[in-house]
Amino acid sequence: MQEPKTLYWEGGTLYILDQRLLPHREKYLRCTSYRQVARAIKDMAVRGAPAIGVAAAYGLVLAARGGAKPDKTLEKVRKAAEALRSTRPTAVNLFWAIDRMVSVADWAVSKGLDLYQALLQEANRLMEQDVETNKRIGEYGARLIPDGATVMTYCNAGALATAGYGTAIGVIRAAVEGGKKLSVLVPETRPRLQGARLTAFELSRLGIPYRIITDNMAAMLMSRGQVSCIVVGADRVLARTGHVINKIGTLSLAISARYFNVPLYVAAPLSSIDFESTPEMVKIEERGEEEVLRVAGKLIAPKGSRAVNLAFDITPPELVTSIITEWGVYEPSGLASLRRYSTT
Ligand code: MRU
Repeated sequence: MQEPKTLYWEGGTLYILDQRLLPHREKYLRCTSYRQVARAIKDMAVRGAPAIGVAAAYGLVLAARGGAKPDKTLEKVRKAAEALRSTRPTAVNLFWAIDRMVSVADWAVSKGLDLYQALLQEANRLMEQDVETNKRIGEYGARLIPDGATVMTYCNAGALATAGYGTAIGVIRAAVEGGKKLSVLVPETRPRLQGARLTAFELSRLGIPYRIITDNMAAMLMSRGQVSCIVVGADRVLARTGHVINKIGTLSLAISARYFNVPLYVAAPLSSIDFESTPEMVKIEERGEEEVLRVAGKLIAPKGSRAVNLAFDITPPELVTSIITEWGVYEPSGLASLRRYSTT
């Protein structure tokens, strides 16, 4: 069965697959304004670090639509960029994509070019590049996965979290495409269940065998030698220190993995690498308490209960075996050298 597109552009409209409805319904949101795109990112209809970057890029295309005066349109694009920047704070890809689009907008206006067309071309380029990048990550990563392995992944770092193919799932699928027989362990990933809903959906479409586990089973399976390696994605990797910021729960997996000698690989494109920040500078998203207190909309805790809902955690470099990028496999301490490939 074909995998659905995470998002696509057609006839001046951005269509976003509403991931909140998966795996049971495949419905696209029609976005004709940047505000609709910002809402879709904030409410996680579209999620995953590279995917929200690409969605925001098209949001800026929509902001430039129909503007007759270049200066006024540029102002509108800048305003839209600020709104899109404030949707989610942690994934650096969002800021990377917006910065890239804003500099294209400045350049187009300075050259007297059609702003809308220039932004549309750049958004299309970002989308295409993301898929190519993920395939390259897959190629490098597949070499690290032994035939017959049981691979644990986390959250969803698949096609749905990107413009296509996926990063961590890209590694798994490239290994399978290369003829390796793998099975995948999928922690459900509370509270939004990206593992149980989205990763399981993708793996079932790809015909890759998987089993879902509750998040708290991971350490026990590692202690029994039932996990060959772990491959996760990232929302931000800090080149200065090697820290990896990813879905809440990654840190617990990393601590268990180190204790039980299970390699932990992080699949991350250059667009997820932050060359400036230290861990203290990164804002970890805190989402609404309701996400923890309710499952599928139903309250599971006593009325009036309070909850903590940190969406991401920070894993120190000493717990990470290697980082798989489109430029090769790196030690967490060796990422600064990637700056030479950076386009921003
Ligand atoms: O809150 P989400 O669903 O946007 O979080 C997604 C993740 O944590 C992914 O692991 C990360 O964005 C990498 S996606 C290739």
